[in-house]
Formats: sequence, C-alpha cells, structure tokens
Amino acid sequence: MLAYRHLFHAGNFADVFKHSLLTRLILALEKKDKPFFVLDTHAGIGRYDLTHEWAQKNAEYRDGIAMIWGRKDVPDEFIPYFEAIRGENAGNELRFYPGSPRIVRRLLRPVDRMVLVELNKKDCENLGGLYGGDRQTTVYLMDGYQSLKAFLPPKERRGLIFIDSSFDRAREFDRLTEGLVEAHRRFATGVYALWYPLMEPLAMRAFERGLVATGIGKMLQLEMTVVQDGYSEGMRGCGMLVVNSPFGFEPEARSMLKWLQPLLSREGGGGHRVVWLAGE
Ligand SMILES: C[S@@+](CC[C@H](N)C(=O)[O-])C[C@H]1O[C@@H](n2cnc3c(N)ncnc32)[C@H](O)[C@@H]1O
Repeated sequence: MLAYRHLFHAGNFADVFKHSLLTRLILALEKKDKPFFVLDTHAGIGRYDLTHEWAQKNAEYRDGIAMIWGRKDVPDEFIPYFEAIRGENAGNELRFYPGSPRIVRRLLRPVDRMVLVELNKKDCENLGGLYGGDRQTTVYLMDGYQSLKAFLPPKERRGLIFIDSSFDRAREFDRLTEGLVEAHRRFATGVYALWYPLMEPLAMRAFERGLVATGIGKMLQLEMTVVQDGYSEGMRGCGMLVVNSPFGFEPEARSMLKWLQPLLSREGGGGHRVVWLAGE
C-alpha cells in the first residue's frame, strides 16, 4: 500500500510549476501535424476536490494556485493552464484542481494518445473512472518505472514522457536517473519531463552529477524555490528536468518562471533558475 496521496498536496506551488510548464511542452509537440504519444508514469487520480478534508488539512493550494487564480495580469503562456482549471469548475470558482491527466487530455488532438500509469490501486480505480470509454486514453495499474519498459518506444515515434514521482521512498533520485537512462535507450528522441523536489544541496549536486554522467544530451534544468536559503521545514522548492527540450521552450519557461516565482514566494524568498545541464 502506498502511503502518498496527492490530494493532500493538490494545487500547491509545485503543481503550479509543473502543470503550467507541462502545457507548454504538449503545445510544443503540436507544432507538427504528426500524432504524438504521452506517457504519464505517476498519474495520480486526475482531479482533486480542494474542499475534501485531505486537501483542507494543510490547504497547500492556498500557497499555490490560490495565489495566482483570479489575477488580471496572467501572461499568455499560462492561458492553457488556467483554461484547464476553469474547465473543471463553474465560473471562476476554484473547487476542483486538475491533475496532469486532465490537463494533458484537454490539449490532445484526436490523433494523439495517452497512457496513464498509477501504482496505488484505489487511485488507479478513480483515474480509470474518469477515462472509461475514452479511446485515446488507457489507464494501467503498474509501476511507473516498469511502464517505461512496457510502452517505449511508442509507435508514433514522437512523444512526451512525464515522470512525476511522489518521492516517498529512499533512493528515488537514483531510480529517476536509472529510469531515464533505460527509457532514453529505447526512445532517444522523446521529450522527457522529470519533476523532483529540492532536497539538501549535496543530494542535489549528486543528482546533477549523475545526470551529466549518463551522457544524455539536451538536458534543460528548471528550478524554483519559494523560501529563503536555509529553510528546513517542508519543501523549499522543486525542479523539472526536460530532455530534448523542444525549440522555443527555454525562453518561454524563463519568462513564465520570472512572473510566477515572486507570486509564489513566501516573504520574498527564493528564486528561479533555468540552465542547460547538457547541450546537444
Ligand atoms: C505527485 S503524484 C502525481 C501527480 C500527477 N502526476 C499530477 O500531476 O496530477 C505521484 C503519484 O505517483 C503514485 N506512485 C507512487 N509510486 C509509484 C510508482 N512506483 N509507479 C507509479 N505510480 C506511483 C502515487 O500514488 C501518486 O498518485
């Protein structure tokens, strides 16, 4: 039984970061007419009721989506993300927050397809309930890292692999790097988006060194922190590693984080960075 339930964290600053960037990666794939494939290896339940007692326990969305919802100065890059949230709610209400499956599914064209993988049986059942009868979406109860072996390479030969682990086991950074190597060996041209929480600086440098040592090219690293340096309670920030970053994504992401970070920052702390960990 997996202990992690994303409903406790839905809509927090990390969700805003990953989901807004995710929309841009999907839209980048749509610049070509050819069909593409999306694999979401840690898919969650797809939609989160922010009034549920679990979501209310720490009300993390209040430091996340609620900080930007209703703003009038939202940059164009965020519009698809905001539309995904609006699509779950009546008017400008913010009751339901869409997870990655709902956000991506809205953007798929009729020729594209998506595989959703979730290891928690109950969460997987909930997710399956949202997609019964959807010919473009298939849901599997499976280990996300196994799914990289099971579904890659996709027949479309174009696609996005989103790896959004809950990081509730030891050695998850190693597992992430190993998973990327395995997946990239099977499908070297895929776009990969790997989310991770920021932990102690030494662990983060080891993760980066490990990634560079894989020899995989075109790795763009995006990070955002929301608290002062030295903060030790809870998550201080998070990052996303994008492999085979699509043309135009880097400047777009920079400008998005420049707008987003100060709005999600607590007492003006933290910052953001976008760097190439490995070039072509
Ligand atoms: C951070 S949440 C995912 C959120 C989702 N990607 C989203 O953005 O809406 C991580 C999910 O991974 C699931 N999970 C944990 N370990 C897993 C594994 N080894 N394989 C697949 N899913 C796993 C958890 O049950 C949880 O639902």
